[in-house]
Amino acid sequence: MDDDQTQDGYSQADWQGHYDASDLRWDLGEVAPPFVRLWQDKILTPGKMIVPGCGQGHEVVFFAGHGWDVTGVDYSPGAVSLLNQTLKEKNLEARVLSQDFFALDATHRGIYDTLLEQTFFCAISPESRGDYVATAHRILKPGGFIMGLFYETGEQGGPPFNTTKQDIHKHFSKKFALVRVEKCDHSAEQRKDKEWLAVLKKK
Ligand SMILES: C[S@@+](CC[C@H](N)C(=O)[O-])C[C@H]1O[C@@H](n2cnc3c(N)ncnc32)[C@H](O)[C@@H]1O
Repeated sequence: MDDDQTQDGYSQADWQGHYDASDLRWDLGEVAPPFVRLWQDKILTPGKMIVPGCGQGHEVVFFAGHGWDVTGVDYSPGAVSLLNQTLKEKNLEARVLSQDFFALDATHRGIYDTLLEQTFFCAISPESRGDYVATAHRILKPGGFIMGLFYETGEQGGPPFNTTKQDIHKHFSKKFALVRVEKCDHSAEQRKDKEWLAVLKKK
């Protein structure tokens, strides 16, 4: 799957089309349960967090409500507008950037403690995985973490594009220490047995 370089995936217009049609088929409707567990177990402790491809941002809302300084990034205006609306309704503060994650400028260099990965790595074209790793490495503080759920769809094509344990090793091991990469046993029902929970520390 990872070698399928013919799969370009979605354009920005394709993603925005989903928001226009209110077709958010990937959306769990709540913060992904494994992140709540990481927070309860104090593996996720408050700091500066970024959520790339945040969508309507259940994770942004959850962590902003629990003391994190959170930045959500999404290049679809529909996502940004839904998230801003929720933050307003809940009277919560978070920074919401309407832009391409890969084009974050130098003001983001080395400033985040945590990057939260939720259904973004599988949303981008497999050809962009190297850019993902480089961008994550650039914006995290020294010793900062990617805390992620990586989606093993077992299917050809995408999005969502299949992510195996080998893909995680292949793409991240040069720039990140793989602290934990394990099959998640408390995923949301629709992702059961299909998620890798990964804790990756910036080298
Ligand atoms: C599958 S959705 C996941 C949304 C959210 N993380 C969730 O789990 O509900 C992928 C999101 O990534 C956004 N996206 C895709 N490529 C992007 C990029 N290069 N920069 C910023 N956002 C991007 C899309 O607009 C879409 O909202």
